[in-house]
Amino acid sequence: MEIIIHSSPETSTQVAARIVARLLREKPAAVLGLATGSTPLRLYRVLINMELDWSMVTTFNLDEYIGLPPDHPQSYHTFMWENLFSHINIDKENIHIPDGNAKDIPEFCGKYEKQIRAAGGIDLQLLGIGTDGHIGFNEPTSSLASRTRIKTLTQKTCRDNARFFGSEQEVPKHVITMGIGTIMEAHMNLLMAFGENKATAIAEAVEGPVTSINPASVLQMHPLVKVCIDEPAASRLKRADYYRWVYENKPAWQTF
Ligand code: PGA
Repeated sequence: MEIIIHSSPETSTQVAARIVARLLREKPAAVLGLATGSTPLRLYRVLINMELDWSMVTTFNLDEYIGLPPDHPQSYHTFMWENLFSHINIDKENIHIPDGNAKDIPEFCGKYEKQIRAAGGIDLQLLGIGTDGHIGFNEPTSSLASRTRIKTLTQKTCRDNARFFGSEQEVPKHVITMGIGTIMEAHMNLLMAFGENKATAIAEAVEGPVTSINPASVLQMHPLVKVCIDEPAASRLKRADYYRWVYENKPAWQTF
């Protein structure tokens, strides 16, 4: 894992944007795994302003609420169109977001996995992290080998996401999410986290044991992970000085 600590979400996002932009320039037909939530919002704004060529890019979103109409203001379909897709030259046919209204959810989930494989796998998967360590909507105790499937949110996640809905009661309790096994097959994972409320989840994910209690900790087993965080999110890392030292002394050919 490469832990990249910057003073603010803005500077941290610049690094993440350079990583994504480099991939799109080197591989115009790249397959991107996309995330929603407050964390990637800045990244999407920066990427839009970079005016990259998305015409051959394929995307797969991590997750979606079950039961919300796609045009609901809080659906991840709406989020993605408002915050990224309607501002870039992506081909609509290449966009994949789990269908939270699929009649047969297990069948849909199997199809989603097949579509990822048929696209050649995910080159770069963007990830946020929940305060409980979830990635995608893989809540604590999710199987580390899980595939795309239905999950029930924890009460904590419902409370965390109530800010988007107005009240906790309005947050759907069920979601479709890529599994941890699905995420682990991405060629690269790029996890972003900002703010003090993510500090414990980040410390456990990076320096704790690999455990399904903190699903993000499984990324310790992945060969290529970059973790872009701000100082508050890094505040509980015991080896933060080492991560800063590594970053400051990166060989020129490894810089972004
Ligand atoms: P956030 O959510 O970006 O809104 O903090 C992250 C997550 O729950 O994965």
